[in-house]
Amino acid sequence: MRSTYLLLFLGIIVPQSSCGTSQQPLNEGANRQYYICDGCVPRELVLAPGVGFDLSSPYGTAAIRYYNGTVVDIGRVEGSPEYKDFMARLSAPYKQYGPPFRTPLDRVEYDLDQAKRRLRRLQKLPSTEDISTLHVMLSKMRYLVMQELHMLPRKIVLSLPYMPNFQPEDLAEAMELADLTPLESFRHFGDSLDNTKAALAGMGTGICEHWQDIQKCDEEQDRFKIKQTLALTYTYDELVVETFLMINPYHFIRVERSRFPDLSYGTWDTDRTNTTYWDTIGRKVVETAKKRNTLPWPVEELVLMGEYAEEKRFLDSIWKALGGSMDVQKLWAPLQRPKFSAEFIAARGAAEMAKRWLGETWGCVEGDWCEGNRD
Ligand SMILES: *[C@@H]1O[C@H](CO)[C@@H](O)[C@H](O)[C@H]1NC(C)=O
Ligand SMILES: *[C@@H]1O[C@H](CO)[C@@H](O)[C@H](O)[C@H]1NC(C)=O
Repeated sequence: MRSTYLLLFLGIIVPQSSCGTSQQPLNEGANRQYYICDGCVPRELVLAPGVGFDLSSPYGTAAIRYYNGTVVDIGRVEGSPEYKDFMARLSAPYKQYGPPFRTPLDRVEYDLDQAKRRLRRLQKLPSTEDISTLHVMLSKMRYLVMQELHMLPRKIVLSLPYMPNFQPEDLAEAMELADLTPLESFRHFGDSLDNTKAALAGMGTGICEHWQDIQKCDEEQDRFKIKQTLALTYTYDELVVETFLMINPYHFIRVERSRFPDLSYGTWDTDRTNTTYWDTIGRKVVETAKKRNTLPWPVEELVLMGEYAEEKRFLDSIWKALGGSMDVQKLWAPLQRPKFSAEFIAARGAAEMAKRWLGETWGCVEGDWCEGNRD
């Protein structure tokens, strides 16, 4: 059917406009219109490796997704004390920055911060200390990737935990200082990707197989059932429990998020005689997941992130807490795949998205003449 439209396209549009910016609807699917692209995705983008960075509270990880489908964990960079402080400080709960001000003190603080930023810029420094901190982190990660690729990566997908107090302009400034450009897709705008979305992509959950053809991809993604998702991040510094209604890895509704620094792996590590620690973890996870009445419970999808999330006692306590009320066996299936790594899963997913966003068309379907371009 596509070739019929192709003939139409060539027959009608091309003689009239040689520059070829006009587009002809290809198909009206489920409320969608598909257009034939003017050109093909350049071969260099088809072949380019996708680079993904994930920043978690104590460290950052990087992964590469090659054209041939191989995903490689590149390595990890430890966060400095300033970095860890920054990640904790800018996480939830959200605090309004800038007008409208709730109290006169908020205004004074804001004006002071703005003045400090101006002063730093006059001195040719990054606008804030935090931006410097992040710049250093990103540069180290970029260097790690360079050792693997033998060239400095420029366009990347950056995965981040939910940080409502992190100003988008500050992230943009840090990326620019590190000479990095955030990749975007017609499906995703913004300088970063939520780490849970990245982790799902890393698990291969909900993402389409035929991403090179957006129409086929949409058809696949339309079949994805909305899932009640529980995401656990477990590191030396914190335990984060989040619940989502996952529509697909591009769209979700965050229902609940609780951060427990006192239930971090570090808490256990400093006092291994604590007999209630593991049970408390299980209890808090279930409490958080059930917080908003019936949603999202029972859990249909489980996402594990963070360096200690595969710790046996951690998994046992979650298993025990979730068990009884649901079919927990199937929740574990994606986590038992070979090469699964909770530490790298978000970076891997970010790399997968990076590969896709480099090699994807921008909302149109490639014409038949592009056949062979991706082989
Ligand atoms: C895929 O490409 C990478 C980089 O060129 C290479 O290291 C890896 O061995 C390849 N994997 C397969 C299965 O061909
Ligand atoms: C054991 O750990 C839990 C969770 O961090 C904490 O609430 C509790 O007070 C600890 N108990 C002791 C005896 O330190």
